[in-house]
Amino acid sequence: MGTMLSFKEVTKIYPGAEHIKAINELSFDLEDGEICTLVGPSGCGKSTAMKMVNRLIPMTSGKILIDGQNIDRLNTIELRRGIGYVIQNIGLFPNMTIGENIAIIPKMKGWDEGRIKERVETLLDIVNLPAEEYIDRYPRELSGGQQQRIGVARGMAIDPPVMLMDEPFGAIDPINRDHLQNEFLKIQAKLKKTIVFVTHDIDEAIKMGDKVCLLKDGKLVQFASPEKMLTEPANDFVRDFVGGDRTLKRLNLLTIRTAIRPDPPVVLETEKSATAGTIMTETGAKHLITVDSEGRLTGYIDHEALKKDGETVEQIKCETEAFLPDTSSLKDGLSEIFSHDLEFLIVLDDSKRVIGTLYTDDIKKILRG
Ligand SMILES: Nc1ncnc2c1ncn2[C@@H]1O[C@H](COP(=O)(O)OP(=O)(O)OP(=O)(O)O)[C@@H](O)[C@H]1O
Ligand SMILES: [Mg+2]
Repeated sequence: MGTMLSFKEVTKIYPGAEHIKAINELSFDLEDGEICTLVGPSGCGKSTAMKMVNRLIPMTSGKILIDGQNIDRLNTIELRRGIGYVIQNIGLFPNMTIGENIAIIPKMKGWDEGRIKERVETLLDIVNLPAEEYIDRYPRELSGGQQQRIGVARGMAIDPPVMLMDEPFGAIDPINRDHLQNEFLKIQAKLKKTIVFVTHDIDEAIKMGDKVCLLKDGKLVQFASPEKMLTEPANDFVRDFVGGDRTLKRLNLLTIRTAIRPDPPVVLETEKSATAGTIMTETGAKHLITVDSEGRLTGYIDHEALKKDGETVEQIKCETEAFLPDTSSLKDGLSEIFSHDLEFLIVLDDSKRVIGTLYTDDIKKILRG
């Protein structure tokens, strides 16, 4: 870890528009591997701030450092090749296939054919456009949203440490957008790039950002983690911008893990039925979770089940679908609880082992802070 990208009192005044500072003394530091979402109303300076990082727009004063190096001292070509750049309206080259478009920078960098092919195929897979079907097509043979996904793939082609993304999912329908956001976050969890991500959508900013940078009229209003911005908005502008439902928005941000009630009463399914009855009496549980020898969820026992004939827990247990992994959002957890009218949800780890339960009361406590 360490600072990867620094804005230091960066100001931009466009020639011919000297009366306004498009960016006004903007300073912030981004750690290595963090996504910073730049968000704010139209015209607040998001694109301007982002384009100064790869010098597509020259700054008027201040400085920007990448990994401690002042970008003004770097050669423009090298600077840009080291930064992945995804932008909504800079399209793909129409005379090149999808495969060729994604391979542009790797080719310039002199990668061998095999490495390029492998990379292109992986990236197409990531953006959900199978190589067999899309690699040899031309951009005009793709929808707008598909083209945009190719743009994202192209930006990631050389695995750059820093990426700039200007509304990368802007033209994509909500379902594909949600999918892409999730896929992107999964990749990011592994690749840990430092990313400046422009969006006008506060929900996207909160979902995608480790840090959210909220601008207004070229000025920084608040730079904070999404959680902090939702719980401690710096002023009324931020409060309005994040919306009256900021408490509910936190549900999306927090995982079930944060509200988990650990060590619920469980019974091995190889135990005698009577044992289940005893545990329920002792613990006062109305539902007893049943597990296999590895601690994985197999079902549950309630008072009705206890009345059934059967030697072992396995013979009398009921099936359940009332479970989610601890990495799911509290929103998904709450939604399951409400839609199936559950008393609680069973929480599992990656290996489907029971690690706790989720109750609405615990969620309330978390939201109250
Ligand atoms: N080439 C230019 N010459 C003069 N003024 C410009 C130029 N480009 C942008 N501006 C002005 O600078 C300010 C910031 O523009 P910018 O494009 O960075 O906003 P933005 O936050 O990206 O907006 P949007 O959400 O609409 O894309 C605006 O007031 C805009 O009018
Ligand atoms: Mg813009």
